[in-house]
Amino acid sequence: MDIVVTGTGYVGLVAGVCFADVGHNVTCIDVNEARISLMQKGISPIYEKDLQELMQKNAEKGRIRYTTDYANTYKNAEVIFIGVGTPENPDGSANLEYVEIVSKQIAENIENDCLVVVKSTVPVGTNERVEKIIKDNLKNNVKVEVASNPEFLAQGNAVHDMLHAKRVIIGIESKSAEKKLNEIYKPFNLPIVSMNRRSAEMVKYACNSFLALKISYMNEIANLCKIVGADIEEVAKGMSYDDRIGAKFLNAGIGYGGSCFPKDTKALNYLAEQNGYELKTVKATIEVNEEQRKRLIKKAKKCFKSFEGKKIAVLGLAFKPETDDLREAPSIDNIKYLVNQGANVYTYDPIASNNFKEKYDDEKIMYAKNPTEALKDADACFIFTEWNEIKDIKPEQYKELMSNPSVFDGRNIYDINEMKENGIDYHSIGR
Ligand code: UDX
Repeated sequence: MDIVVTGTGYVGLVAGVCFADVGHNVTCIDVNEARISLMQKGISPIYEKDLQELMQKNAEKGRIRYTTDYANTYKNAEVIFIGVGTPENPDGSANLEYVEIVSKQIAENIENDCLVVVKSTVPVGTNERVEKIIKDNLKNNVKVEVASNPEFLAQGNAVHDMLHAKRVIIGIESKSAEKKLNEIYKPFNLPIVSMNRRSAEMVKYACNSFLALKISYMNEIANLCKIVGADIEEVAKGMSYDDRIGAKFLNAGIGYGGSCFPKDTKALNYLAEQNGYELKTVKATIEVNEEQRKRLIKKAKKCFKSFEGKKIAVLGLAFKPETDDLREAPSIDNIKYLVNQGANVYTYDPIASNNFKEKYDDEKIMYAKNPTEALKDADACFIFTEWNEIKDIKPEQYKELMSNPSVFDGRNIYDINEMKENGIDYHSIGR
């Protein structure tokens, strides 16, 4: 089937490439010309496992193309997926500006009946709003249907998550929209769950907020473990055997980040408030996470009366491994704090350093080529991302390289006894 995908970020580009890979004929649209020209050369604008290879493979087969020319592309489109960003507004609500602009552009240009599918994460009721914008702005006498199809991919594993999704959620209000979406997803051979649009929109927020809640819950239990002499790693292991709880998302740490959990929990909370309901669990999830991010730095502040002139190593900048994404990464506020306190910060990240430099350039932030360079003569080290390369650092290396082997580990990478045996002043979460 001919499919148009608008927006070439994590959601749109991954969807477009995977649609092409299962045999559809895909056109990806973006307003960013530099981005489009990069993709036309077969280069992925984002770091995502397997994505660039699949872009090139499907371009060679003539199944995917990239353009900024939305007007001509929409003209005869049969199906248009909207995968543009819905960033956070200052009040916590989702910013639907881009979804609305695209809806209007679709309305003004389509000349054939068409199905518009909202893949961006949008608050309940947005599909109806999109439908209204399109109907209000139509220039031709055509029939347009709007369906919801939220995505559940995790960054770093996005291609795999889309090709092997646990389920495909489709929110539809008509049999014809359901039929078309079933056709599109048939080659994926995945379970398809149909429901009404409002429920489909809610599934996405409910899933992300539930996972965020699970993390905040574990972080709180970890903090209590520390006080009462239990070990969160052992506790999590004990919990994981209960399949009602499950073994995933039980890792306590420096708090969740990324482009989804922080934004989606706040948007869900906002939606509840707007509808006169207090969503207590989600509120608590957000609050716990905000506190958790400051936990290690507060501890370090107690140990070091001042950071002035100290060399501080920071291992890991990205919000999680296998991505160069810094959105809501705990490293950002912690590094800003250290710099404000007069520290010289030597960071290391396998791929996110350039992004960090572009966004938060400061002469007090240095970018090491490897962990050894960051750790050399450091007075303290913070670990914010559990990259394999960082996990591979041996405890004795901290002792050998640092002038004062004090390690604040936000990802519980090390065995506490081993660190102690190596003479390291080791602080982690919930142990
Ligand atoms: C998440 C969801 O997993 C995905 O389904 C959704 O579509 C988008 O949001 P993503 O943000 O890419 O994906 O990353 P994820 O791997 O879920 O991690 C999110 C954050 O939670 C990271 O900061 C991670 O470090 C943290 N996390 C995760 C924990 O602190 N503990 C855990 O046990 C798991």
